[in-house]
Amino acid sequence: MPVSPLGREIDRVDGRSKVTGVAQYAADHPVTDVAYAYVVTSTIAKGRIARMDTAAAVAAPGVLAVFNPDRNLGFRPPPAGSQALTVENYLPLQDREVRYYGQAIAVVVAETFEQARDAAALIATTYETASPRLSLEAHSPGVTPPLPPTVGPAAVTVLAPGVDSIDAALAASDLVVQATFHQPVQHHVAMEPHAAVAQWNEARTEVTVWTGSQSPMVAAQLLADRLNLPLQAVRVICTYTGGGFGSRVWTWNDSILAAGAAYQLGRPVKLVMTREQVFTMVGHRGQINHTVRLGASRAGVLQAVSHDSDAEVPAVGGWPMLPATDTTDSLYKTPNLHIRQRFVTLDMPPTWAMRGPNEAPGAFALETLMDEIAVRAGIDPVEVRLRNYADVSPRTGKAFSSKHLRDCYRIGARRFGWSARRAEPRSRTDGQWLIGMGMATAIYPGNRMPVNASVELRDDDTAIVSTATSDMGTGALTVIAIVGADQLGIPLRKVTPRLGDSKLPPGATAAGSAATSSTVPSVVAAAEGAIAELRRLAVTEPASPWHGADPAYVTYADGRLSGAGRTMTFGRLLAALGRKSLLVDRQTALAPETIAQYEFHSFGAHFCEVRVNRFTGEPRVSRFTTVVDAGRVVNAQAARGQIVGGVIFGIGQALLEKNPLETATGRLAASNMADYMVPVNADVPDIDVHLLSEPDPNVGALGTRGLGELGAVGSAAAIGNAIYNATGIRRYDLPITLDKLLP
Ligand code: MOS
Repeated sequence: MPVSPLGREIDRVDGRSKVTGVAQYAADHPVTDVAYAYVVTSTIAKGRIARMDTAAAVAAPGVLAVFNPDRNLGFRPPPAGSQALTVENYLPLQDREVRYYGQAIAVVVAETFEQARDAAALIATTYETASPRLSLEAHSPGVTPPLPPTVGPAAVTVLAPGVDSIDAALAASDLVVQATFHQPVQHHVAMEPHAAVAQWNEARTEVTVWTGSQSPMVAAQLLADRLNLPLQAVRVICTYTGGGFGSRVWTWNDSILAAGAAYQLGRPVKLVMTREQVFTMVGHRGQINHTVRLGASRAGVLQAVSHDSDAEVPAVGGWPMLPATDTTDSLYKTPNLHIRQRFVTLDMPPTWAMRGPNEAPGAFALETLMDEIAVRAGIDPVEVRLRNYADVSPRTGKAFSSKHLRDCYRIGARRFGWSARRAEPRSRTDGQWLIGMGMATAIYPGNRMPVNASVELRDDDTAIVSTATSDMGTGALTVIAIVGADQLGIPLRKVTPRLGDSKLPPGATAAGSAATSSTVPSVVAAAEGAIAELRRLAVTEPASPWHGADPAYVTYADGRLSGAGRTMTFGRLLAALGRKSLLVDRQTALAPETIAQYEFHSFGAHFCEVRVNRFTGEPRVSRFTTVVDAGRVVNAQAARGQIVGGVIFGIGQALLEKNPLETATGRLAASNMADYMVPVNADVPDIDVHLLSEPDPNVGALGTRGLGELGAVGSAAAIGNAIYNATGIRRYDLPITLDKLLP
């Protein structure tokens, strides 16, 4: 009997192809007779293109075409109600309007990439400039529009009986802590730049696009809408995707420009954004100013929690940032709760979800002030969190589906050695280094979406597990193979997993940390269905040795059917029946009554040690322990990798990442990898991750809950709290760079 790979340390099934360079990412896909597209972008933030002189570019060697507002790609508006215009509410090159700095205004297509790039440099553009809205502060406060129920509510007030307002509840509290936090612009910086290869069929009625995506299904639907094609006419393939972090949940202008140019030229077209273009053509995490106020008793028990925010939302569309949603409204017990989240329209490049899109900024604010409560009340930060532990959701009053956060605190504190911490700032030193410890809680919604998966049993005793989700590096391909092997009772190497193609069974968007929790129950159901179908065939098919037997006598275990003193593998049975394979497709979803009954969240506890140089202010993260409660773990190795990656995001958010705006032009000034700082190996200590792996009894088969983004939530606050403990300096404006810690 094979040992099930479920929950064990399993190497990626695609690991070898990635490290040996065999894996083909979007732009690697070989296409005969491909032409190369290069995008020209705007150099003003708002206005109109007065004149674009393309004569020199058109005449340049190898150039096939220059598309711009004067010779546009002939796109027609998407059908009414399409989501295609939510991310960017216009179609590229169709008009002369400039909506942000870095917007696509022309595309040069040539025989080679270099020819296209060089010709693009010959295009001279003049503008009629208008005055852009660029300052979040100057245009605040924003407005709170009604949001779809799946996103909102943007504003919530819960008051205890007899309490008139949140301000009254705060005024009546023994201790009040409050601060205004600034989250600057951040970028996903996925390793693979955004790119697309588009190829039409001869009749130009169907298009295949190779592009990195977190959801081949969503990408196909958005492209179909933007190209005015039926969904069946568009196929998106993303077998390998080099990172997403939210930046590939939806498609950007690369795929539609490539598809449009390929249509016009009757040739396949490859379009790769430059790294600089990725910073503006792809949505970023928008900036937020947000104010949190906490009122507590002298014993550190919360009496009032208030969170107000103003977040950038670009005029072209983007992600509505809700920093209090699923953090402040879900984490701690409080009799009085107030959240008000507003949006400020600016003439900025599009914004989009980035790892813990609402939760990472929100948790930095909330968890920084929870630390402040601990300081003011003179209570250990872990103890403060235990005194405010929520057994039901503070906003909805519903029970959590499963919550083992107390264990995260307890186990984390022990693994980390939290008891050695001294509450007094600047009380531990090592030469010129001040040493501090901090902690914070992680929380992230435990989403699950309705998805299909199929299991195909083959006559050679192998199985194929398929679903149209994406593996952007998270390990989804390995996850579906593991679950298939576990459910069928066969060795992992006998299972071929398939994803990354919109023509596969409709699968999960790899977003909201929900791909695994959504996909696993469907793979389980498809495997169960395939086994049931095998057993049915065994007793109904004349060629089966069990033909006519009572179905109850034929059982399935470990890849074999057994009954009446006889046993054979499923492959042998299929061969005996003259069948190559047997395919079962199943959809599963959370039942509405389960959704009505429970709040689904994953939890974790971060513990961090930092060293801050007492002369230069340089902060270094020196130790980190994170313990997470995200339901049952499918692949311990990949799950730990996700949490480690999330904590590294926290290091970037806390200490490094920002993209300052040049206010004269609207240019995001650090839009390249020299100026935009992300953590590198030297910034990252060993990160100790412990996974509780307690199955969630309500989330679905196997009990796996969301995990991907959890590590990115609260980790920045743990670092900031450790910096306070080291230095006595509290910073609310991210990132906490060394200049902010100078004595
Ligand atoms: Mo994630 S930011 O939900 O892709």
